[in-house]
Amino acid sequence: MIIHGGAPLRGSVELSGSKNATLPIMMASALTDEPVTIRNVPRLRDVNTAIELLGGLGVAARWLGEHELELNAHTLSGHEAPYDLVKTMRASFVVLGPLLARAGRARVSTPGGCAIGARPVGLHIAGVRALGARVQLRHGYVEAHAARLAGARIWLDNPSVGATENILMAATLARGRTVIENAAREPEVADLARMLAAMGARISGAGTHVIEIEGVERLHGADHTVIPDRIEAGSLMTAAAATGGEIVISGAPVNDLEAVIVKLREAGVEIETVAGGLRIARPGRLRPIELRTLPYPGFPTDLQAQMMAMLTLADGASVITETIFENRFMHAQELMRMGADIVMKGATAVVRGPSRLSGAPVMATDLRASMGLIVAGLAAENTTSVSRVYHLDRGYEALDRKLAALGASIERAADE
Ligand code: UD1
Repeated sequence: MIIHGGAPLRGSVELSGSKNATLPIMMASALTDEPVTIRNVPRLRDVNTAIELLGGLGVAARWLGEHELELNAHTLSGHEAPYDLVKTMRASFVVLGPLLARAGRARVSTPGGCAIGARPVGLHIAGVRALGARVQLRHGYVEAHAARLAGARIWLDNPSVGATENILMAATLARGRTVIENAAREPEVADLARMLAAMGARISGAGTHVIEIEGVERLHGADHTVIPDRIEAGSLMTAAAATGGEIVISGAPVNDLEAVIVKLREAGVEIETVAGGLRIARPGRLRPIELRTLPYPGFPTDLQAQMMAMLTLADGASVITETIFENRFMHAQELMRMGADIVMKGATAVVRGPSRLSGAPVMATDLRASMGLIVAGLAAENTTSVSRVYHLDRGYEALDRKLAALGASIERAADE
């Protein structure tokens, strides 16, 4: 992605559907032999990977429109999620719960390491074991069997999003009642629960830290519209603030963005709700802040890189602490190549501003780090080229087109 920085973003932009909500919702289609329709599906590489994964299991996918996807697991025949797919997209692991519940067995590759940290799956495994599955780890695969799962009380050591989703889906078809305590409260978990409820599941408490599921005999087809992407919204907000622009994000999920709004306001960004969305402006200088990533409703780790990029421009020292992933400061090295002053010690980074960012060739290491570099590039002098754009295409729909429509000078190099 080649960016000529310096142009303040102006205009209005529409959000796509949430990637992190869409992926588990797609996996939920395997729980029923009736077709499901999912609307507001973002066109992303990760969605294609999920289609490929489900295809390998015998689930048919058909686009009904640009963002409407029909999935039909009537012909579910496989029970394996291969290493090749799981290693490119860790969210594939949440197919474990649906497969186990519907087919009685699943063989799912463990995801392995990741650029941002270890990404263990111990809580997912402990969860399905508690529901009565026999689980073995063999040849890098989790092999699980259960004639029928049985409801249980499960306390999560850590409110893992993926583990909560896996257990939630598995429990929908279990015999009896399941209670997940210390569950993840992310809006994407609540959206998955709404999809499952539309399919006939009996769930209460999704979006809080205790979720109760009363297992049913079978689930049926459903029609569900995915929530807007709060991480895309937050990314665009930091980009508008970093460039000193003014944008309106239509369809922004204001409630899901509370922590982000509070922190951006603290940094001097003007945010107000307008009909159908949010208006973001940065009329004056940015102020330094302290920031800690936390499980929802805390500040999301998926926006930490973008905030760091923005805070390089603030008048003073900001302190960022990353509490979710142990290795999620890879973008800091690249930001420093653009002139940022960042000192890291363990999970904390001190960002001293204001830096005069200058364009440079930089390399993306993961999805959100890439977006951080785009934010920096938009605010920097001269030309920034961000390579390994495939990371961005995993999770941002038409990002270059959306930013160009807001007045950014951004284009995709031919070889990307
Ligand atoms: C999801 C999101 C990802 C986001 C992350 C944290 C999707 C597709 N991805 O990832 O974008 O960055 O939530 O908000 O929704 N953990 C364990 N044991 C486990 C599972 C997790 O210790 O069995 C730990 C992880 O190491 C990490 C923390 O729990 O420190 C949070 O991870 P988790 O919530 O599971 O993230 P994902 O679901 O993988």
